Amino acid sequence: MVDLELDRAHSARMYDYYLGGTTNFPADREAATRAMAAFPSILATARVNRRFMHRSVRFLAREGMRQFLDIGTGIPTSPNLHEVAQREAPEARVVYTDNDPIVLAHARALLRSAPEGRTAYVHGDVTEPEVLLAAPGLRETLDFTRPVALSLNALLHFVTDEHDAYAVVERLKAALPSGSTLAIAHATTEFDPAGMARLTTAYRAAGTPGQARTRAEIARFFAGWRLLGPGITPSHQWLPDPEESSERVTDKEAACYAGVARKP
Ligand SMILES: C[S@@+](CC[C@H](N)C(=O)[O-])C[C@H]1O[C@@H](n2cnc3c(N)ncnc32)[C@H](O)[C@@H]1O
Repeated sequence: MVDLELDRAHSARMYDYYLGGTTNFPADREAATRAMAAFPSILATARVNRRFMHRSVRFLAREGMRQFLDIGTGIPTSPNLHEVAQREAPEARVVYTDNDPIVLAHARALLRSAPEGRTAYVHGDVTEPEVLLAAPGLRETLDFTRPVALSLNALLHFVTDEHDAYAVVERLKAALPSGSTLAIAHATTEFDPAGMARLTTAYRAAGTPGQARTRAEIARFFAGWRLLGPGITPSHQWLPDPEESSERVTDKEAACYAGVARKP
């Protein structure tokens, strides 16, 4: 029996609450309420972040990417990454990873909507990249001799410098062949330094240490890879869809930078 750790707040369940989901518990809702008091536009931030995932996956599928590795997947929220990718390319293969036991508990439901064998879930922690990369479910679904689209969306601000975030990302990048891509959305200190400091404090108090970074610090995660599309932009400005109202927010509300790069 998996311990769902219902007595403490988890970032995945707080994020689910912001997105209007139902997979959250009193500890998550209390922590989310404090985070919303610290940073009132966090609901918009979450929606905008999710939309960046949709646009970047659609862009990459149209660019010919057929394998996706999504780390820090979160609780299923339709459309999920495999739905976006497989709508463009039904043969696309997707592996999801998260370290929250409740995401694991929901993985079966997540995968039910996917064609068998083309989507898998691996429970794991990004701060242990070797373990994650060796997971059988990963290698059974993705062919690491062919390009893989790695997404680390709204994940790396939960990987602080104490966890050597840059070394973790470099290890993942090194495992992927030429032509692979990396998509990142990441909270930044630049648009609202005081608000972001309050938000980081609220998360830390809830037991989830985090670290927002500057644009230059976020750019370092892409080191050596070639940025695609518009480069690193506020998350709502990365190839925005003019029809979509969630793209019409301010940088301060978006609160994240986003980018996509390809390995030479
Ligand atoms: C804000 S949610 C983002 C969900 C999704 N990627 C998106 O952009 O919509 C962050 C996710 O990262 C997961 N996470 C946080 N730290 C992690 C770690 N060290 N390893 C794996 N997943 C982690 C959380 O459980 C949560 O589901």
